[in-house]
Amino acid sequence: MDDISRILAADVQDDSEVVVDRTLRPRSLDEYVGQRELKANLSILLGAARQRGDAADHVLLHGPPGLGKTTLATIIARELGANIRYASGPAIERAGDLAAILTSLDERDVLFIDEIHRLNRAVEEILYPAMEDFALDVMIGKGPSARSLRLTLKPFTIVGATTRAGRISSPLRDRFGATYRLDFYDVPDLTAIVNRSAKLLGVEIAADGAAAIARRGRGTPRVVNRLLRRVRDYAQITGDGRVDAATADRALAALEIDDEGLDGTDRKLLAAIVQKFGSGPVGVQALAAVLAEEPETVEDVYEPFLLRLGFLDRTPQGRIATDGARAHLAKLGFDVPPRRLEPVMDAGPAAQPVLWDEGPESSAQ
Ligand SMILES: Nc1ncnc2c1ncn2[C@@H]1O[C@H](COP(=O)(O)OP(=O)(O)OP(=O)(O)O)[C@@H](O)[C@H]1O
Ligand SMILES: [Mg+2]
Repeated sequence: MDDISRILAADVQDDSEVVVDRTLRPRSLDEYVGQRELKANLSILLGAARQRGDAADHVLLHGPPGLGKTTLATIIARELGANIRYASGPAIERAGDLAAILTSLDERDVLFIDEIHRLNRAVEEILYPAMEDFALDVMIGKGPSARSLRLTLKPFTIVGATTRAGRISSPLRDRFGATYRLDFYDVPDLTAIVNRSAKLLGVEIAADGAAAIARRGRGTPRVVNRLLRRVRDYAQITGDGRVDAATADRALAALEIDDEGLDGTDRKLLAAIVQKFGSGPVGVQALAAVLAEEPETVEDVYEPFLLRLGFLDRTPQGRIATDGARAHLAKLGFDVPPRRLEPVMDAGPAAQPVLWDEGPESSAQ
């Protein structure tokens, strides 16, 4: 399984959930809830391209997992009345793979490249002239007799998606005509998403039931959809299938999701900082080791929402659990030892303990 996240897990692990997920996916900008500013800007970009009959500018979408990047890519193609091809950064291994994809595109097609920050260098270099001039430079022959030949491609649109804008090289970033950042959704938007999904799934849900799920949804549509499915199961087995706040509360408590929407892993991460590292600062490498996760997973999947909740601070010295996080853990009955004293400032870098060591992973942001 891809280690990017347990949030992704529903998509990659369980086929029946993937099918459900597809049916829940909004199919037009109108159906797409929230992200109002992004939608307004995107709608102008798409409308103008459509009016001119041109391929739309290349679009880069970035933001934490499950906020709707892939969904938006599909909507972009649909709004343009164009075909969409799906590819992902790590899956395009060789320059030739990308060349084959590019030459197969029809005029105004959309090529979606997920995890675009994971394209390798050789592949990326093919992409530069392709995005800029719709040209493909191919090398013919080897050694001294080798020469380069330029092929013309039909105009197309690249939609790139990434959880890490900071990891994209600047030449690649510069070739996108528009870059949009997706933000966590607020509770009213998440409530609207829960209600919409419940309707599509045929679940009878009370207003307070939808709100109870939305509140614990980590600001993330994929998470509220998953919680809704679990709550639906619970309501079906323990009651008459109707979801109200009381049922949702019981179901979510059984899933060990707390009032802030944190699950066991989130709490384990905060508890590790508080209990093992004196509330920080601690480097992401050391944290990842405690959780037995990749540092990249910690940064991309667990941290963004904890930062957003104000439970975590990122400092040059490492991660710090905030007073809010300490209070939250204390309320849940965790042991919350006093903060470690501030590090001695005159100790040189070499004298610093390893647990403050910031690996190359943590340079972003
Ligand atoms: N604005 C929205 N309105 C309603 N539902 C949404 C919205 N955005 C996302 N969803 C729902 O959330 C699910 C996850 O969205 P999506 O797969 O597009 O996220 P993503 O940003 O591509 O995530 P990842 O970074 O993991 O690839 C979708 O299947 C869709 O049902
Ligand atoms: Mg996606």
